[in-house]
Amino acid sequence: MRKSCRGFLDTPVPDPIITSVLEDAQLAPSNCNTQPWETHIVSGDKLKELAEALLRENEAERLSPDFTFDTNEYHGRYKERYFNLGKTMYEAFDVKRDDKEGRKEVSDQNYNFFNAPHIAIPFMPSFGDNVRVGGDIGMYGQTFLLSLTAHGLTGIPQTALGFFAGTIREILNVPDELKMLFGISFGYADPNAPGNSFKMERDPISHNVTFHQ
Ligand SMILES: Cc1cc2nc3c(=O)[nH]c(=O)nc-3n(C[C@H](O)[C@H](O)[C@H](O)COP(=O)(O)O)c2cc1C
Repeated sequence: MRKSCRGFLDTPVPDPIITSVLEDAQLAPSNCNTQPWETHIVSGDKLKELAEALLRENEAERLSPDFTFDTNEYHGRYKERYFNLGKTMYEAFDVKRDDKEGRKEVSDQNYNFFNAPHIAIPFMPSFGDNVRVGGDIGMYGQTFLLSLTAHGLTGIPQTALGFFAGTIREILNVPDELKMLFGISFGYADPNAPGNSFKMERDPISHNVTFHQ
């Protein structure tokens, strides 16, 4: 079963396995079969360089996102689920609700890729309001994640990385025309990491599904 991993072993994934995951992800459906993903895999020294830059930019609050993201826009049941994720995660890391510093430390782990040895970034071209291409990138990301699971690996999609799209493009030498929604840290799960000690529940399908006939 797929779930998001927030604590990886530093064991690298063999190249042929990464290739096999990428070949599975390549089969993702897309509007008009445009296959609008330009994927970059970052590992080794380059990944260290990226982590240093992201931690630095995050400290300086120098965000460079391509797309807006405001969790204050969540309302009703969506807001409840968002709050529940925060509560579950901070409890797992043993951080109290009012411990601002502790909460920041947990969220900063995004920029260390939760210790993952690799990240994948599916950059995307920009078309119109980008809703459809964003959907295609989501399909690609989920296919990639399910393939990781099928290969005994795990991963986590991270909007937090997209907050620094400009910095990431600069370091990876990616042209400005290619936009970024999220990155995916991936590798082997550390079974003892606190970030892997919980599983986010889902509502019963009756809350999300309407049948017609
Ligand atoms: C597009 C996308 C971006 C996400 N960004 C982050 C992130 O930046 N940091 C994080 O810890 N989790 C992130 N998540 C993981 C979600 O919190 C997670 O999918 C959700 O809580 C459900 O848990 P599960 O994936 O373990 O089933 C993201 C998920 C998606 C689909």
